[in-house]
Amino acid sequence: MPSARPVPTAPRPVVAALAALLAVALVGVGALVAPLVAPARALSPAVVLASDFESGLGGWQARGAATVSTTSVGARGSGSLLVEDRVDPWDGALYPVTDLFEPGTTYTIGLWVRLPDGAGSADLRVSVQRDLDGEPSYETVTTVEGVTSQWRQVTGTYTPGPFDTASLYVESVSSPVDVMIDDVLVTGVRYTPDLSVTPVSDAVSVPFGIAVEPQDLLGGRGDLLAHHAEQITPGNQMKPDAIQPTEGTFTFGAADGLVDWALEHDMRVYGHTLLWHQQTPAWFFQRDGSALTTSAADQALLRERLRTHIEAIADHYRETYGEYGTPGNPIFAFDVVNEVIDENESDGLRRSEWYRVLGPSYIADAFRYARDAFGPEVQLFINDYNSEYPDKRAPYLRLVTDLLAQGVPVDGVGHQLHVEVGRSISMIEDTIEAFEALDVRQAVTELDVSAYRDSGEQWAAPPAARLLEQGYYYRDMFDMLERHAASFESITVWGLEDSRTWLRSGAAPLLFDGQLQVKPAYWGIVDPSRIGTTPTPTPTSTPTVTPTVTPTATVTPTPTPTATPTPTPTATPTPTPTATPTRTATPTPTPTAGAGCRVAYTTNDWNTGFTAGVRVTNAGPSALTGWTLTFAFAGGQRVTQGWSATWSQSGSTVTAANAAWNGTLAAGATVDVGFNGSHTGANPRPTAFALNGTPCTVS
Ligand code: XIL
Repeated sequence: MPSARPVPTAPRPVVAALAALLAVALVGVGALVAPLVAPARALSPAVVLASDFESGLGGWQARGAATVSTTSVGARGSGSLLVEDRVDPWDGALYPVTDLFEPGTTYTIGLWVRLPDGAGSADLRVSVQRDLDGEPSYETVTTVEGVTSQWRQVTGTYTPGPFDTASLYVESVSSPVDVMIDDVLVTGVRYTPDLSVTPVSDAVSVPFGIAVEPQDLLGGRGDLLAHHAEQITPGNQMKPDAIQPTEGTFTFGAADGLVDWALEHDMRVYGHTLLWHQQTPAWFFQRDGSALTTSAADQALLRERLRTHIEAIADHYRETYGEYGTPGNPIFAFDVVNEVIDENESDGLRRSEWYRVLGPSYIADAFRYARDAFGPEVQLFINDYNSEYPDKRAPYLRLVTDLLAQGVPVDGVGHQLHVEVGRSISMIEDTIEAFEALDVRQAVTELDVSAYRDSGEQWAAPPAARLLEQGYYYRDMFDMLERHAASFESITVWGLEDSRTWLRSGAAPLLFDGQLQVKPAYWGIVDPSRIGTTPTPTPTSTPTVTPTVTPTATVTPTPTPTATPTPTPTATPTPTPTATPTRTATPTPTPTAGAGCRVAYTTNDWNTGFTAGVRVTNAGPSALTGWTLTFAFAGGQRVTQGWSATWSQSGSTVTAANAAWNGTLAAGATVDVGFNGSHTGANPRPTAFALNGTPCTVS
């Protein structure tokens, strides 16, 4: 196995060259700027590239099959760059930035683009190719949709990670149209964080982590990370496409750089992720270029690939850093399976390529392989998004319950928590409480709080009032999490600062801004008095979504799926954000006049157990302050765990008393509670529901 490779933490020797180039660039631009080499808190941006194409190509070159020349039609002056003869979308125009860009510095890239007259419209992309150890990375700076023959101004920011060579280029998303480019201006600035503030990790009793990429370790970014975090999660570098891009070729370089850095800074590493349906190379699901079928031979091949992948990772980190659980090896946890739940499927499981070929069994197999490979010292997590929504919570809970019942080594449950300002915190707490009934640790794995409430909002930067509101939201979120600190292994936010969030531009979901400065979100966690005492304006109603899933198929060895293989290319390495659905609450049913209460009771059964949803409506004329629901089981059933209420059972009588957050039930209001139960073969519906002693009508 390749040995660990340290990440460069010192400025690269390009600085001198950069300073020289700066001087040249500045002459052309005529602006006075500060050099990058002497960082200070409020450093002005330095121009590192200015191309106006008034007198030649100015260093721009063709990329791929394209040809480049200058035209006499400029966005402002009388010249621009014309890119022709493109064949593939990635053919375009490039500028080598190896000696201009410095890893870890943030660049603002501005330029003008258009298509020639009569060329229709196309989506263009500004990208950077970064090559390190012979491995290229293609990183999008910004995508410009619907470019026509009108000049369009484009800007984006970009922070390069380490590289041997790099180039800035303009390409298109799909159609190889001719493209015109003008007035390119690239400025860079090194931001310096304020390290006198309280580390977030000091303010949170649970180990605090940040998901990072190699560029987050450099310069001021690395200082910021080291100051605030106690552990890191690799944002992309341990995913299947990063680790095993082609079968048998393992590329650990980028991931090792992160682990080395964690070790140097006395931090833990949470691994992410051994199995996913995204960012997984297509070869996993192919044999000789054709999609795997559900034949026994193909299933065996895919299982073997899964085992090999997991073992190679476990062995590599054991060989490089020593046995797990010893001081030299900082990896303490791993997401084994990521996002396997789909609440819209009858069995609650995502229809991925893993599922198509292997059926549900792959989940248990992945955990068993991981335990065998990593040993007992690495905590094995399942991880998913939207776990706070009741309709996702139910199948998640059921899957984990089933896995544990079968002795599958699941140590922890991850809640990604990709949320937006205003998502119900009490609903999140309900999910945490539901899992507290199981023998598992929990982790917040990918927290970020989008400043956008919905897809209709759009801005370059959130208004100050929204950032403040976000601060209150973070405050309330961490207050809630602290109440459950004993259940949590770690709390991780998904990204260091807003300029590099994975969410759309303007979402600003993190604790620090793009200039590495603290935001109200930071103060919400560390010292809420700094953002005032305004109560959170967050609506906290719980969406009343009833679980609709049917029983989980058992996760013992494969029940021989017979479906015709579909050669669905689901494993493209192109990442698609998956964790953004926004729900609306189900409308509350109109109360029936005269009745004291109404109950809707639904179950999803399997051979020995079931999940029940109980929707309780206060159909009386006045609000209830505090409520207790009672009912009787008719078939010897037992409640094994409940949520959204305090559940108890005596003989056949079950009692559910309100939780702190849902104790007030206005006239006509509805509350959803639920539980998992066991039965011995039959599951007759309970009878005699009563709310505060008043009999309920049952539907
Ligand atoms: C995201 C990364 O942050 C992006 O850089 C990448 O382009 C797509 O994946 N759920 C997960 C994470 O489990 O792995 C995802 O990370 C975000 C959603």
